Amino acid sequence: MIVEVFESEKSLGERAAEIMAAQLKEKPDSVLGLATGSSPLPLYQALVEMYQRGEVDFKDAASFNLDEYVGLDRDNPQSYYYFMQDNLFKYVNMPQERIHVPYGMAENIEEELRAYDKAIEEAGGIDIQVLGIGGNGHIAFNEPAESFSRGTGIIDLTEDTINANKRFFESADQVPRQALSMGIKNIMHARKIILIATGEAKAKAVYQMINGVIAPSCPATALQMHQNVIVLLDQAAAKLL
Ligand code: GLP
Repeated sequence: MIVEVFESEKSLGERAAEIMAAQLKEKPDSVLGLATGSSPLPLYQALVEMYQRGEVDFKDAASFNLDEYVGLDRDNPQSYYYFMQDNLFKYVNMPQERIHVPYGMAENIEEELRAYDKAIEEAGGIDIQVLGIGGNGHIAFNEPAESFSRGTGIIDLTEDTINANKRFFESADQVPRQALSMGIKNIMHARKIILIATGEAKAKAVYQMINGVIAPSCPATALQMHQNVIVLLDQAAAKLL
């Protein structure tokens, strides 16, 4: 793992955007794996600015988001689909038909999960995957567990995650209890990974991810086995390293 530490979220976002733009320049039809949450926001902001300056082009790209809440429709402002439109897609020229987010209102969830994995495979796999990390070491919605998850699955969210994410809802009661999420296997198959973490609340999970024993009790430790991971941190998240 390569670890880089930044003075500000802005400079961190610019570095992440530079990596994404270089990927798209080298391979314009890249398949981007995208994440939600506050961590990737500086990246999306920097990418929008680069796009406005004509420095990055999404016209041939495709994207797959990591996860989505079960039971929220796409026009719900708390849904991850809405988040992505609101923070990135409405500003750039990624063709809508090549944007993929798991559908949390699917009538047949099992079918939706299988179709999502199949679509990733048919697109040629993920070239570059953006990740955040939960305070409990989760990546995407892969919560601490007894074994590493495989393909896209349905997850019961832990109390920790519900509490961490309730800030986006009116109350903890309104946070969905389940989510659809790419598995650790999907993430490990990405050719390159950028993990972004900011703030002191992530310091322990970041330390564990880099130095801990590889174990599903801290899902992010799986990344130690990936050959091409760049970890971008602010000083608070890097505090224990
Ligand atoms: C959520 C998301 C993750 C994200 C994490 C951290 O539960 N499913 O993909 O990485 O929490 O979020 P944030 O960046 O807002 O701290």
